[in-house]
Amino acid sequence: MPSFDDIEFYPGDPIFGLTDMFRADQRPDKVNLGVGIYLDELGRLPLPEAVRVAEQRLAEQPAPRGYLPMGGDPQLVQLVQQMVFGLPATEDAAMPEPVEGLDPLHQRIATVQTLGGSGALKEGADFLRALLGASTVALSDPSWANHAAIFGGAGYEVVSYRYHDAQNHRVDVDGMIEDLLAMAPGTVVVLHACCHNPTGYDLSADEWVRVAEACAQRELVPFLDMAYQGFSRGLDEDRVAVDTFVATGQRFFVGNSFSKNIGLYGERIGGLSVVCASRDEATRVHSQLCRVIRTNYSCPPSHGAQVVKLVLTDAELRASWEAELEQMRLRIRRMREALDAGLRAEGVETMGFVTEQAGMFSYCGLDMEQMQRLRSEQGVYGTDDGRLCVAGLNGDNVAKVARSIAAIVTS
Ligand code: LMR
Repeated sequence: MPSFDDIEFYPGDPIFGLTDMFRADQRPDKVNLGVGIYLDELGRLPLPEAVRVAEQRLAEQPAPRGYLPMGGDPQLVQLVQQMVFGLPATEDAAMPEPVEGLDPLHQRIATVQTLGGSGALKEGADFLRALLGASTVALSDPSWANHAAIFGGAGYEVVSYRYHDAQNHRVDVDGMIEDLLAMAPGTVVVLHACCHNPTGYDLSADEWVRVAEACAQRELVPFLDMAYQGFSRGLDEDRVAVDTFVATGQRFFVGNSFSKNIGLYGERIGGLSVVCASRDEATRVHSQLCRVIRTNYSCPPSHGAQVVKLVLTDAELRASWEAELEQMRLRIRRMREALDAGLRAEGVETMGFVTEQAGMFSYCGLDMEQMQRLRSEQGVYGTDDGRLCVAGLNGDNVAKVARSIAAIVTS
């Protein structure tokens, strides 16, 4: 046994670590806008009513728990495809227009169940490294901290492409395209399909066309991370990036998650879909994704899949869930407006951009030192890079948060 003397202490994850710090904070008016979870108006993590009912039904008819297939529950996998690609529920229904020269879309997608969105990224990273020899991943500047950690841990060199235009509070799309076109073919490019994490700035439909074309022209490997479907404009509307890539006919990857939109964070349930060029290709890709799963953790857990299946296929539960998701989306938007109003009331007129961002996160423009002061002096927790999870705001804490930010930016 070699010595453990050289094993360094893992200082913790920059996002999850904040939750630990928040818990240890004794101040009664502390506010956690660190980790990306949706909290309701009372500051609680909600259990969606559709999930509560689904679990009740499952408990009333307890079933034995055999192993799932390596690629996951077959019905769940179909539902992932329906949600991510807008495919109809049955093969008899009208299919989206086929891309010329390619098998119809529903035949050429290889989808597996994953351990949430992070699991999808890791499986995709392992697959690409082992099967295609991919060795470089490009992330937006900035990106979710765990993107670099997951791909770096899988052996990739991590580079970045321009994304956030801090001066103009938008995406630097020209810079982004320029950087994409300068990359080596085969570079894996992680793209945030909607609700960019951490900035909250998304590409427009036209800009997605430019990005997809650049990826195709340069023969890059687009990997869409769609962890927040439904939190920007709606489940269908948030598919714009996926639809755009489908229309170009190129191969690409999409990871999706039910952590946020069905509130199943702890169940670790999501999907990885690889859009291939033909049915035969999709079959082979699917088999290799199964191998990656088998050699990592054998097969996925079943409970989350059971819940998602019931919520998405029972008409009543689905309607209840969609209505609740819409309420979440609208509440976040109201909180953005309340934050802006609160800031203006405190004399900060320059942060109206928070109302133009989408999803759970807001890049608030504070630098690392200011974010650390916001935490230590005011008890408001956001990540060091300037990200606030605005889904943690509510009527009771938004004025305090506005006051706290104002105190930091004006001193
Ligand atoms: C976040 O960005 O805060 C969430 O995606 C949670 C996580 O796993 O980091």
